[in-house]
Formats: sequence, C-alpha cells, structure tokens
Amino acid sequence: MDAVILAAGKSTRMKSKTSKIFHEVCGRPLIFYVVEALKNFKIHIIANPLNHEHLKNLFNFAKIHIQNQQKGTLDAVKCAIDDISSPYFAVVNADTPLIDGSDIEAAFEIAKTENSECVLITAVLDDPYGYGRIVQTKEGLKIVEEKEATEEIKKIKEINSGIYIFKTESFKKVMNLVKPSQTTGELYLPDVVGLLKNIKTLKVNARKILGVNTKKQLAEVRRIIQQRILDRFDDVSFVDPDSTYINYDVKIGSDTIIFPGVNIRGNTKIGRDCIIENGSVIENSIIGDNVHIKPYSVIEESCIANNCQIGPFAHLRPLSRLSENVRIGNFVETKKVEIGKGSKASHLTYLGDAKLGEDVNVGCGTITCNYDGYQKNETIIGDRVFIGSDVQLVAPVKVGDDALIAAGTTVTKDVEPFALAISRVPQTNKKDWVKKYRKAMEEKLGKKR
Ligand code: UD1
Ligand code: MG
Repeated sequence: MDAVILAAGKSTRMKSKTSKIFHEVCGRPLIFYVVEALKNFKIHIIANPLNHEHLKNLFNFAKIHIQNQQKGTLDAVKCAIDDISSPYFAVVNADTPLIDGSDIEAAFEIAKTENSECVLITAVLDDPYGYGRIVQTKEGLKIVEEKEATEEIKKIKEINSGIYIFKTESFKKVMNLVKPSQTTGELYLPDVVGLLKNIKTLKVNARKILGVNTKKQLAEVRRIIQQRILDRFDDVSFVDPDSTYINYDVKIGSDTIIFPGVNIRGNTKIGRDCIIENGSVIENSIIGDNVHIKPYSVIEESCIANNCQIGPFAHLRPLSRLSENVRIGNFVETKKVEIGKGSKASHLTYLGDAKLGEDVNVGCGTITCNYDGYQKNETIIGDRVFIGSDVQLVAPVKVGDDALIAAGTTVTKDVEPFALAISRVPQTNKKDWVKKYRKAMEEKLGKKR
C-alpha cells in the first residue's frame, strides 16, 4: 500500500530557519517517527526544493516528490498521485510524530471492509484550537479549518488528525473539483473529504495525533516520545524519569541506575549494573558492565570497558579507549588515548594523543603536551609506570615499562625501563633566610609587617 507523507510546508509558525520536520526529537528528526510508523507501507514523501536532498539522504528507500510551490496540502498530494498504484492509499502529515502504525492499518481495514471512499483518523481534544473540525451535516461529513470556522464550528472538539485513507479511484475523480480557500488561496486536502461518499472515522486517543506547528508543541511531543523511550527499559532504574533524556537509539543493560539530569545521546550502548550519576552527558559511546560514572561527567565517542570509574567532572573526548578497571577522576580530560587495565589518572590531568600501558599511575596535574603549534604528537607510556604530580610529557616521547617520573619533571626525552626521570632544580634550604629578609624590609620601609 502507498502512503504519502506531506513534508513540503514552509513551517512558518515554527519561527525557525530549519524546516520543522528536521527539528531534533530524542536524537532523530521529527519526520523519522512518522516514517517509522509507516514502515509497512510504500512511502512517498512530498518535499520542497530546499529540503528534498536532505530527505533523500535520510530515507533513501522512499520515493521523493517535489512540490515546487507550497500551494496547500491537496496540491502536495497531487504531486505524487500519478505514482500511486494501490487501490487505497494513506496520507499523513509529517508533523504528527506520535501516530501509531497499527491505527493506520486499522483504518485501511475499515476502508476495505466498508467500501468507504475515505477513512479519517480523528480525536477529541479539550483544546481543538488550530485543527480542522469534523462537521457532520445532512449531506455528510466535512472538515472546516480553524481559519474558516464560524464561532459555532470552533466549539466542535472532534478534529482532523491529518491522517487519511483514500480510495485511489474516487480521490482522482474529485481532486480537481476543489477550489482554493478564500482565506489563504491554498488547496486544502480536507476539502476533498467533503466531496467523497461513505466516509468513516476512526477516533483515537488525543495523545497520538498531536501536530507540531510551534516550538511549544515540539516540546510537548518530545516529552511524550521521551516517556515512550523510557518505558522500553523495564529493567533499568530511572531515579527521576521526568528529568532523564535518553535518545531513541540508546541501549541500556539491566540493573543500571540512572540519576536525574542524565543525557544519553546518539548511538550509545550502556552495559549492565552501571551507575550513571547526576548531570552526566554521554554521546555515541560504548560503556561496559559495572561502570560507575560520577556526577557531571561528559563522555563523547569513547569506549569504556567493564568496572571503570569515571568522574566526577571528567571529560572523555572522542576516541578515548579505556580498558577494564581504569579510574579517571575529577577534572581529568582525555582525547584520542588508550589506557591499559587498572591504570589511574585521578586528578587534574590532560591525556591526549597517548597510549598508556597497564597499572600506570598518573599523578595529579600531569599533562601530555601533544601540540607543537603545527601537529599533534604522541606520548607512549609503558606498563606499571609511576608518574608523580605536576609532570609534563613533551611529545613525541616514550616512557619505558616500570619507569618512575619524579614530581615536577618536564620529560623531553625518552625514559628507559626501570629508570627514574627527574628534571627538577636541586632544593636548597637557606637557614633563617626569612628572618633576615623581614629585618631588611622593615628597616627600609620603617614599619612592622
Ligand atoms: C492540517 C489540516 C488540519 C488538521 C491538521 C492536523 C489542512 C489544510 N489542514 O493543518 O485539518 O487538523 O493538519 O495536524 O491540511 N504541507 C505541504 N505542502 C503545502 C502545505 C503543507 O507539504 O503546500 C505539509 C506540511 O509540511 C505539514 C502538512 O502538510 O507536514 C500539514 O500542513 P500544516 O501547515 O502543518 O497544516 P495544519 O495547519 O497543521
Ligand atoms: Mg500541522
């Protein structure tokens, strides 16, 4: 069966430079949810000259038809009509992402069994403002748009969802009889309905047909889709589901606990028995089992093996690969780094373009100086290396297994295994120096400290 998705509109009410169908909802563009609901159909998308290429890239399995001028929803359907071969076809607005594919399939069944020329999916809304109203007259059913409705019609709460099943043959017979709206000059698809016979309606829950025309409606729809995504994870604990943001493609293992304000985006996969604490943001990453991510950590395009501990306030930038039992503490930033099993960088450190072996201890304030103003250089650190506090490793540089780098050292040349590298100025303590200094200053300034 053919299904036509209308996506060529100008999105004026969205007040955005981006067409509303591309606004992001839980990690996917708004239109994705409509396409997903229609996965059992042969999909046609009505695009405009500005968005058709982007739509083609997103949905290469769909047939894209271009509506050159936005002359209304009926004009949009006409752009695909010659390509429709099934005896019945569906039309769905691209801005209605909460629809349920099974309702559309049920509407099809009604059309076929009742030999109806049109089945409309409708809903009853407490506040029907902005939607076309379903008006029953002696002659039959018709739809009246908000802009054209009388005060009496505006009181009707049953609305047109923008989802229709049409009998193809009947549609083609009447589609050219519709006159442009006197208010807007557009050709309205709902006006076709008034010209067809034996119209049936399928009333569905109001929450399934919310249309997105404004940013406020986008937020409302996003909240409902987010809720549906969280409902998939019946073996994961969300401490406060209302403040948890999990994208459509995310996978999470059982018994993982997610605290408030966590945002998990993109294609992230989280293992079992993990704890992800408040305010952490994880994007396109793979996290193993039993990993503890402490508050306010940011993890991007990284891979973390089982039993690691991260944060609080850690930043794992792209291509950070952590083996099992690694600990990354507060104010540690990593980027393009491989860290071997059991290694630790617990405080205030930058590790970039580096490879660290197993059981390495990285002291507080260590920096891999990877950038020379032209290119990134690599630091290689062997197994069981101990790096004291406040060490700079000026790359490219290698530190052999079991070496020890003394605190405060600037490493500028390779260190052999088991060696101590130390680059500090030797310490001297000058006895009673402070006493002499104070005396001299007080005599000079004529006042006590
Ligand atoms: C439309 C219906 C209204 C219904 C509501 C449900 C019309 C005239 N009205 O109103 O009865 O209650 O949806 O949400 O259809 N589009 C095109 N080409 C155009 C114009 C629009 O492709 O020339 C597309 C838009 O991108 C959008 C869809 O058609 O996805 C509906 O257009 P929109 O402007 O949102 O119509 P509504 O005012 O919401
Ligand atoms: Mg709309």
